Amino acid sequence: MSDNRHVIIFDTTLRDGEQSPGASMNLQEKLEVARALRDLRVDVIEAGFPIASPGDFEAVEAIAREIEGPIICALARCRREDIDRAAEALRPAARKRIHVFLATSAIHREFKLRMTKEEIVRWAVEGVRRAKDYCEDVEFSPEDAARTELDFLCEVVEKAIEAGATTINIPDTVGYAMPQQYGQIFRHLRQHVRGIERVVLSAHCHDDLGLAVANSLAALLEGARQVECTINGIGERAGNCALEEVVMALKVRHDFFGLTTHIDTKRLYPTSRLVSTITGLHVQRNKAIVGQNAFAHEAGIHQHGVLAHQATYEIMRPEDVGRSSSDLVLGKHSGRHALRVRLEQLGYHLSDSQLDRVFEAFKRLADKKKDIFDADLQALVEGVLHDGRPEMWKLLSFHTSAGLGIIPTAAVCVQRADGQQFRDAACGDGPIDAVFRTLMRITGIPAQVRDFQIRSVSQGQDAQGEATVEVEHQGRLYRGRATSTDIIEAGALAFLSVLNQIAWWQQAGCAAQSRTESIPQP
Ligand code: KIV
Ligand code: ZN
Repeated sequence: MSDNRHVIIFDTTLRDGEQSPGASMNLQEKLEVARALRDLRVDVIEAGFPIASPGDFEAVEAIAREIEGPIICALARCRREDIDRAAEALRPAARKRIHVFLATSAIHREFKLRMTKEEIVRWAVEGVRRAKDYCEDVEFSPEDAARTELDFLCEVVEKAIEAGATTINIPDTVGYAMPQQYGQIFRHLRQHVRGIERVVLSAHCHDDLGLAVANSLAALLEGARQVECTINGIGERAGNCALEEVVMALKVRHDFFGLTTHIDTKRLYPTSRLVSTITGLHVQRNKAIVGQNAFAHEAGIHQHGVLAHQATYEIMRPEDVGRSSSDLVLGKHSGRHALRVRLEQLGYHLSDSQLDRVFEAFKRLADKKKDIFDADLQALVEGVLHDGRPEMWKLLSFHTSAGLGIIPTAAVCVQRADGQQFRDAACGDGPIDAVFRTLMRITGIPAQVRDFQIRSVSQGQDAQGEATVEVEHQGRLYRGRATSTDIIEAGALAFLSVLNQIAWWQQAGCAAQSRTESIPQP
């Protein structure tokens, strides 16, 4: 270890994070997240689990080919075929790591793996050795380590180190550990395992009891020097340790921990927004660091204090994490230059042509909405930048009628990519349902709406509504998102974007990456 005060930030948003229900991403989306993680300056990107699906393999390979700077890591069980596949996907990476895992706790040994302790040790050693044939940098994780008998954990870890592991990760797979107890595991390993000083110890915590960040910090106090985490804490069940929280805890309380990271904290908020937009997983309002209310002072006494001196009620500045302190920004008369400056302050560095598209959308919005807030700008940029796929269907106009005692109906007009226009009408349970039904009739794509949400993007009566819709079609899940000052239009656009994705995949003859596909377990 060169700098003993440096904490390696190992981001697993694209692997463990992507395992959150409804959070899977397509190849382009994964690449976009990987670029943002590189810009955030994480040390390691766990890009996926290549044996799990062809989509995972392709994503790891594409990230390995494009992303320079961080180490690119791929996950594998302690099985020959998994490790070979991980190595193949990582081949183009300049800096690579294979991460092998095998469960060690009694409950996993007995009921999941049906393996004896001796077999576990042998498989772990063989897994590490095989990974070592492909690359020097090998991480080993005894899955469910936090519930593993300490003696046995020491034995497996010692053998994995002898076999060549360079990082030993201690997963609290089910989020069961308490901070003091989790810290004790690291202390015990450091006291009892031969060769432990040669490896980096790593924390990997799940948030089932809301302790993932606290447990990771406890591990750092006991000598861990890598934290595995995800943006916004997304992940299996209640999620993983939130990257932004652990990083800011180390920064704000440097006096206490004396540890540093390489993270560019000004990119935390834009990265959080990007992941939330791409996955469709909203960040709760009161979430630390990146939640909408994280820096909002409502109580008069707090507002007074902050105005008198910011540090009375704020332990960090919104600017430190890439948020602006003043919220009201632009209006109808603001120019292209002002827009560019503001977007750069918000962490978006756009090319000229991207800026032109955003500026056009901004002018259209400014005609409908007097005050344009940062959140409006973010929604605009995200809408424009993620709108890269060719559209098969474009919404031209619609009309809905609804009210008490009448049957909700919608009439919709759309244009197909070849220029032909189609009109149709339908009834529904409400005006949005009626629009959806009409769009399905026109496009001939039957789809099951699994989730539909509308939320306000900013403030005021003229605030934009953001609609997100999740739809199932032939066993696959698709997600769409759109914003408008008219919530029915936002719903229609979000739904049409899903129908466009389905049409696009059908036309390309490709299998969209399924959100219902499950990753095989050992
Ligand atoms: O939670 C867990 O145990 C994991 C391992 C694969 C590291 O994600
Ligand atoms: Zn995990």
